[in-house]
Amino acid sequence: MAAAVVWRRGAAWLRSCRGKVLRRGGSPETPGVPRARGCAGSREVVPTCERYAVRRLPFGRLADGDVAFFERLLPGRVVTGEEEVKPFNVDWLKSVRGCSQLVLKPQTTAEVSQILRYCHERNLAVSPQGGNTGLVGGSVPVFDEIILSTALMNQIISFDKVSGILVCQAGCVLERLSEYLEEQGFIMPLDLGAKGSCHIGGNVATNAGGLRLLRYGSLRGTVLGLEVSLCCSSAAPVLQVLADGSALDCLTSLRKDNTGYDLKQLFIGSEGTLGVITAVSILCPQKPKAVNVAFLGCQSFAKVLETFTTCRAMLGEILSAYEFMDEKCMELVETHLKLSSPVAGSPFYVLIETSGSNSTHDEEKLNSFLEQAMASGLVTDGTVATDDKKIKVLWSLRERITEALTHEGYVYKYDISLPVGKLYDLVTDMRARLGQSAKNVVGYGHLGDGNLHLNITAESYSHSLLDAIEPFVYEWTARCSGSISAEHGLGFKKRQFIQYSKPREAVVLMQQFKAMLDPKGILNPYKTLPERSTC
Ligand code: FAD
Ligand code: MLT
Ligand code: ZN
Repeated sequence: MAAAVVWRRGAAWLRSCRGKVLRRGGSPETPGVPRARGCAGSREVVPTCERYAVRRLPFGRLADGDVAFFERLLPGRVVTGEEEVKPFNVDWLKSVRGCSQLVLKPQTTAEVSQILRYCHERNLAVSPQGGNTGLVGGSVPVFDEIILSTALMNQIISFDKVSGILVCQAGCVLERLSEYLEEQGFIMPLDLGAKGSCHIGGNVATNAGGLRLLRYGSLRGTVLGLEVSLCCSSAAPVLQVLADGSALDCLTSLRKDNTGYDLKQLFIGSEGTLGVITAVSILCPQKPKAVNVAFLGCQSFAKVLETFTTCRAMLGEILSAYEFMDEKCMELVETHLKLSSPVAGSPFYVLIETSGSNSTHDEEKLNSFLEQAMASGLVTDGTVATDDKKIKVLWSLRERITEALTHEGYVYKYDISLPVGKLYDLVTDMRARLGQSAKNVVGYGHLGDGNLHLNITAESYSHSLLDAIEPFVYEWTARCSGSISAEHGLGFKKRQFIQYSKPREAVVLMQQFKAMLDPKGILNPYKTLPERSTC
């Protein structure tokens, strides 16, 4: 029996077989985003240093003796050779490319600390890498930085079923953690389209937001503790020093701990520029017993907003996601991924998820909200899914927009926080500004969090199109007191625009923290913070 019901304004409600819903996400039936390493076809990527005319900083150059040292330290876990290293040099979007000659795959914190200590002594730059799904060019080198991959740091250390606290190594893949927890009646507090590839360490390093933030909040709240390997620095002597190097052990598993400054916050969202996160302690919620997803069509963005206000008021504590996308997104998902939407013909779509503990109660609430939304003309078309398979199908329409866009050619991605009422104005203004010079200008995102994903596509990269977009997009955002990065970070592509969202004093203080923890600046250089002279 079908469990997703398509309905239209004025049409009678159809009842469906409401199966148990366990989870959503990539699955054999609903292929998730392809594993990292090559989504956007096989075209050759222009080296970052050429496209953006970057100057290499005076770091040491890799010598045979360095490779020999790492081979002794990590036997069988050192990757060399142009072809073997290539996938680690190019980002998921295929938009930036470094020329590293070496990938290191440590398994333990002690090994990471030894690598950092050696690189510090030799003045060798290092680029930490998790699943390489980052979208701002932060996860790959710009020049020949050594790539430190957490791929083999994939052990779950402990899970406490009473407290719901998970402790694991940084290289655990998010989807693998979700599967492990679901077997025990829990879920991860975050979920994102890249779940099949991204690592929890990368999620923390970028302070990833994703599809569950509306319900469970940011990683700044759910991450309880971190273990971080640091470069040998002026701070090292006072840190807990491991046998082989220096690591900051803040891997506490406590809900409450008010003893001094909360140092782990410095590393959440630091994008590999302050230290290498080696282990994470995270608070995981109980798996909801009842999940419903509604996919609805709205005739205007004003109606998308009003639907949000109404559903917040009527669904209350069971509302767990409110996502939106414009019709162009749906068109691209259909054209490039052959995913057809059960709801068509509207300029905007919203995906509403409820999660609760009582299916009858949740369905009653959802139904009365939907009846009201239909009767008042807020939504004109829609479908509701209650079983796992149909829920995944609806979620993939939203989650796979990122992937569909890469089939268009080059994607200029912007991830903006704005007052929710102004969210779509930026898309409209950008469309008018760019006219025919862009292939598509689309908007989607986490509307419930005030987070717009503005994406502009073109056949290929061009400086002139970039100049038409930037700094216009950042000036527009700053005028509304928004943030130029809601969840993806600054990485390589946005670091020079930080001043649109942070005062000069804050940037200088950040640079001072960086200098204290990484005095030679070897950790993920050219990322996140502007060069000191520029501010
Ligand atoms: P990487 O891409 O490997 O690295 C990202 C940054 O973190 C780099 O600067 C790197 O140096 C640093 N880093 C990685 N591991 C460590 C470590 N152990 N210690 C220190 N630094 C480290 N983001 C969202 O916020 N919300 C979304 O909904 C979302 N959806 C996405 C959907 C798709 C299809 C894709 C491709 C990406 C999406 N992202 C989203 C981007 C997001 O930032 C990443 O997917 C994820 O958080 C990065 O994890 P990763 O392991 O791939 O890190
Ligand atoms: C999303 O919400 O889909 C992600 O942040 C990725 C993107 O912006 O495309
Ligand atoms: Zn997002």
